[in-house]
Amino acid sequence: MRKKIVAGNWKMNMDLAEGLKFAGSLEKYFKEKPAEKAQVILCPPFIHLAGISEIIKHGKIALGAQNCASDASGAYTGEVSAWMIKSTGAQYVILGHSERRTYYHEDDKLINKKTLLAINSGLKVIFCIGEVKSEREAGQHFLIVRRQLEEGLFSLTEEQIDMIVIAYEPVWAIGTGLTATPDQAQEMHKFIREQVKEKYGNDCAKKLPILYGGSCKPSNAAEIFSKPDVDGGLIGGAALKKEDFTAIAEAF
Ligand code: 13P
Repeated sequence: MRKKIVAGNWKMNMDLAEGLKFAGSLEKYFKEKPAEKAQVILCPPFIHLAGISEIIKHGKIALGAQNCASDASGAYTGEVSAWMIKSTGAQYVILGHSERRTYYHEDDKLINKKTLLAINSGLKVIFCIGEVKSEREAGQHFLIVRRQLEEGLFSLTEEQIDMIVIAYEPVWAIGTGLTATPDQAQEMHKFIREQVKEKYGNDCAKKLPILYGGSCKPSNAAEIFSKPDVDGGLIGGAALKKEDFTAIAEAF
């Protein structure tokens, strides 16, 4: 059985006090009522990591960052390295998010470099891929996703792939209220798993969790998660509301 995961990407929301309070209320919730089927992961801004790490001591919630530097250490003003993230107690880092690709011009090569650094620092990577609207409309979505895998991920060894969770996030569905239909998600997730199988073999492909992201909410999560190749979700807006996020974590 593959691991099921529901990860909340808080993006650039909540100040320190708000974030700690919110994490505390989720910790309390999941301590009393653990999400039976899913690993819950919180991905707050960097400044929350160390504090939240102290709060989530019961082990029901894991912690991740939303980005890391593309170098290990040194004179890179304003950057936060994978190793620093690891030292907070976080176990995951989101890389390749479409907002990083679009607003900060991160390309597949840079994302690949960050991915290797993160893995070498002992972090698991939530590796995001997905096409924009015009690419889907032009029927290019499989090609785009194939390229993102090939150039961003497929330099990893089979052993390193064990440290990867893929998140398929069609960019046209992020924060737009438009969700991929469960069938569209399944079609792409199956395609991704096939690419991984071709490159790394069946055992590796079978083990790899592939999450869906893009306007996932309590009203659509159960149907999307019911698809055989969908192993959970990477949640944006709905991860900022306790009722929504906990409902999604229980949607399997
Ligand atoms: P929304 O759930 O707000 O569409 O965001 C998805 C996302 O980008 C998660 O990384």
